[in-house]
Amino acid sequence: MALTTSTYQITDLFAERARNLAPPTYGTELTKIITVSFAYGLADPILFPHADLAAASAAVLAEEAPIALNYGPPSAQLYEQIILRLQAKGIAADRDRLIIGYGSGQILGLLPDVFVEPGDVVIVEGPTFLGVVSRFVHAGARVITIPVDELGMDVDALEETLSDLKKQGIRPRFIYTIPTFHNPTGATMPLFRRQKLVALAAEYGVLVVEDDAYSDLRFQGEAVPPLATLDKEGWVLYVSTFSKIIAPGIRLGWACGDPAIIERLAMFKSEGPVGPFVSHVVARYCATGKLDYHIQELIACYKHKCNLLLEAIAHEFPSDVVALRPGGGFFVWCKLPPDISAKALLTAANEHGISFLSGTRCYANGQGDDAIRLAFSFQPTEKIVEGIAVLGAVLREWR
Ligand SMILES: Cc1ncc(COP(=O)(O)O)c(C=O)c1O
Repeated sequence: MALTTSTYQITDLFAERARNLAPPTYGTELTKIITVSFAYGLADPILFPHADLAAASAAVLAEEAPIALNYGPPSAQLYEQIILRLQAKGIAADRDRLIIGYGSGQILGLLPDVFVEPGDVVIVEGPTFLGVVSRFVHAGARVITIPVDELGMDVDALEETLSDLKKQGIRPRFIYTIPTFHNPTGATMPLFRRQKLVALAAEYGVLVVEDDAYSDLRFQGEAVPPLATLDKEGWVLYVSTFSKIIAPGIRLGWACGDPAIIERLAMFKSEGPVGPFVSHVVARYCATGKLDYHIQELIACYKHKCNLLLEAIAHEFPSDVVALRPGGGFFVWCKLPPDISAKALLTAANEHGISFLSGTRCYANGQGDDAIRLAFSFQPTEKIVEGIAVLGAVLREWR
């Protein structure tokens, strides 16, 4: 049967928000063979706790299969294990204050459902984790960017913005921040800035969304209290994940905060919390007490890789490329001199099989051509050294 040409196009059916989406651009990355990619914050697969997860899975299948493999709620023990971990950080956590989801990204992506009407103001950092911020943009939020320096979000600039908005009668819906081992800069906000941020939230009546994906992976310096422990009035929603400390593929993250927010988030999470089977497996694994030892192994490995990357940068990059040293996490942020464009550098690096994240992929306001993000988490050590040597040669050739 011949296909008829219709005057209708399937794309005419798209909602405006889908029609206006620009496909992601990866420079030339997708058409070149990349031998060393520093682009994405993937976990090091060598470090996954295979044997312990296999043992926990076998035990669940032997002892709990009728409930773990059926429709039903997640394991109650998983809630308990997460609550214990939160309480160990000093965060007020209980069952009513906790929601579990398919990764923290899923829960962060639900925030606009609860908080944002088109045109509402949401405050984010610049640079930031665009994977989440793009969800706020798609929901029609008016996203305002506050600069980040080596101490995290500039809270004085935030204060000015909040005050200006108040004069216009605008109350932002929330402030999205990554205060510890920031993605992409690796910066950690010191206590005095955290105290000011929490005080501003209370003064202006704005929710702070604290994305704490990386703080367990500290390889340098003293722990700084989460914003959620400084907040006495309930203005902080704390969000975290097992992705960086167990494995991203288990897709388990959570948010802890005011029960009214948790209840609303749960209403929009219409498929229910998370898969029962994985929840039982991870709860069992956590209950063995091995996770904290595992985290120590991760820290040793990521510390080594980070040091190696920074040493290689010091040897190979022109001295006016400035790398920020993170105290933990997955990323090193490099500020480029004015004559080097991150996007153009990426195209040149791709020709030599090297990839990284251009800073332009980390801002909601179009900035970022003056910086690049290098993820050291995934590549084996010899590839880190090899990749930075090639990138250094590309940079020198540029000159
Ligand atoms: C800052 C930050 N928040 C959230 C996420 C999402 O993590 P999850 O795997 O829990 O969805 C990531 C993942 O890279 C991240 O870097």
